[in-house]
Amino acid sequence: MNSLGLSALLFAGQALALNNGVGKLPTMGYDTYNAFEKNYDGALALEQARLMKEYGLVDAGYNTFILDDFYALENRSAKGEMIPDPAKFPDGMLKWSQSLNKYGLSASAYSSNGYKTCGGLPGAYGRELQDLETWRSWGWGGKGAIVKYDNCYIPYDNVTMENEYGRYERMLDAIETLAKKYKHPNKFIYSLCQWGWQDPHNWAPRISNAWRIDGDIRPYWSAIANILLLASTSYGATDHYQHGDMDMLEVGNSGRGAPVGDLTVAEQRTHFTAWALLKSHLLIGTDLRNATKDTIEILGNKELIAINQDPIEGKAIAPFRIGLQSDFSRITYNETSPPGFWAGTSSYGPVFMIINTLNETQEISFDLTENWAVRAGRQYKVRDMWLHKDVGVAVRNWTVKLGAHDVAALLLKDAGPEPKETGPLPCASPFLEWQCTAANGSYILDGTHIKWGF
Ligand SMILES: *[C@@H]1O[C@H](CO)[C@@H](O)[C@H](O)[C@H]1NC(C)=O
Ligand SMILES: *[C@@H]1O[C@H](CO)[C@@H](O)[C@H](O)[C@H]1NC(C)=O
Ligand SMILES: *[C@@H]1O[C@H](CO)[C@@H](O)[C@H](O)[C@H]1NC(C)=O
Ligand SMILES: *[C@@H]1O[C@H](CO)[C@@H](O)[C@H](O)[C@H]1NC(C)=O
Ligand SMILES: *[C@@H]1O[C@H](CO)[C@@H](O)[C@H](O)[C@H]1NC(C)=O
Ligand SMILES: *[C@@H]1O[C@H](CO)[C@@H](O)[C@H](O)[C@H]1NC(C)=O
Ligand SMILES: *[C@@H]1O[C@H](CO)[C@@H](O)[C@H](O)[C@H]1NC(C)=O
Repeated sequence: MNSLGLSALLFAGQALALNNGVGKLPTMGYDTYNAFEKNYDGALALEQARLMKEYGLVDAGYNTFILDDFYALENRSAKGEMIPDPAKFPDGMLKWSQSLNKYGLSASAYSSNGYKTCGGLPGAYGRELQDLETWRSWGWGGKGAIVKYDNCYIPYDNVTMENEYGRYERMLDAIETLAKKYKHPNKFIYSLCQWGWQDPHNWAPRISNAWRIDGDIRPYWSAIANILLLASTSYGATDHYQHGDMDMLEVGNSGRGAPVGDLTVAEQRTHFTAWALLKSHLLIGTDLRNATKDTIEILGNKELIAINQDPIEGKAIAPFRIGLQSDFSRITYNETSPPGFWAGTSSYGPVFMIINTLNETQEISFDLTENWAVRAGRQYKVRDMWLHKDVGVAVRNWTVKLGAHDVAALLLKDAGPEPKETGPLPCASPFLEWQCTAANGSYILDGTHIKWGF
């Protein structure tokens, strides 16, 4: 290969993941859609912002506010500019954004990579830079602000002369152009909402800071379980600057929300734990005027938020068993039974998420060394990140008792070598015990040494 070819290859390698200086950590904020769909106005949105501040959620890290679909008029101005709906924003959008900023929140943008948004209002395809300029003139943008970019009313290929990747790249280019023009240190974070079709985790990290892995969430357990199953096939693409977005939170949407949800408190805890530890965006989607104590406690779980926002470790937790099955060798796709055993690392220690996917209380045990992040022969102090206290010292294994669809979120801390009296260490994986051999290559099966192989 000539030197030109080699340098082209190196350059291509560098471009595989976007690091454009923003979006290192998952976005934390509020999005109007799950709570209100189209039935909101500027005053109701500001009331949510006020309550975020009052409940300590702004201080907990939620720092941006997305007016999702339905903030604009159906038709653009004669100059092609978007017009905020005057019935919803009687004082204009700039005034609204300035009021929002007073609560410590930036204003984020929602639009669609097509002629129209999914609600039939103006989409930004072909007008990317113009719309960014308009949003800027409305006071949108600033620290933590994202562009959530949907996928409705898209043009035919004979118009785009692009594939989906190129169509989505247009907004990234416009975001960079705008930031350069105004020398803006906090350019918009770019968050694709392509619904997980065409496996965006394979290509979106090159052109965006985040990509939706799924279609729209719903406030029912079946939807949470299904998204967890999807996440178990794509979590590996998540890292700093690139996040698999599992969609806006439904925490709080029991007996409310659009549509009205039925999540139990345990299901909401599981939902929040999974989103936090898989390093998804954390976007509040409930009417905070009616929030219960449980809702505020779940959304404000500082221990889980710290791991979601870990400045050192960007990777998502990963499943170490598939579904209810005890090993990886019998993988089946079961919508009601997503992986229940997950673990990973954080800068605070190894992290485990254990989910009871059954609709009945269970005692669930796992061996520490089933996960790569924990070493054999050591004991670990276990902190329960929902009880907010240390719950014991794990030697070799740990057992949790969980109600239907509930979760254990555990943070481990190395507590030195395990007690000597614990006895000989077994083979690393209890489910592959036959795989360990003596140095001469003999296996122990049912207590007797067996030599086999080639
Ligand atoms: C928007 O423009 C279209 C096409 O000109 C027109 O048919 C429609 O009535 C307009 N909608 C409103 C709400 O003005
Ligand atoms: C593009 O293709 C669509 C669908 O085949 C067709 O209806 C439309 O007329 C074409 N537009 C142009 C500009 O060729
Ligand atoms: C939530 O609170 C608002 C204002 O207090 C009230 O109008 C609305 O009906 C409440 N919704 C529910 C589902 O309780
Ligand atoms: C899927 O998992 C559930 C338990 O959640 C189980 O009852 C069901 O039999 C499983 N279905 C298949 C096809 O394995
Ligand atoms: C789970 O348990 C609840 C409460 O007992 C019951 O209403 C529901 O039908 C059960 N769901 C399934 C899928 O068995
Ligand atoms: C956990 O490990 C201890 C110490 O080796 C052992 O006595 C106990 O049976 C194990 N429990 C489970 C559930 O595997
Ligand atoms: C291999 O080593 C084991 C453990 O030291 C011993 O028990 C076994 O007899 C040996 N087998 C052979 C075939 O030498």
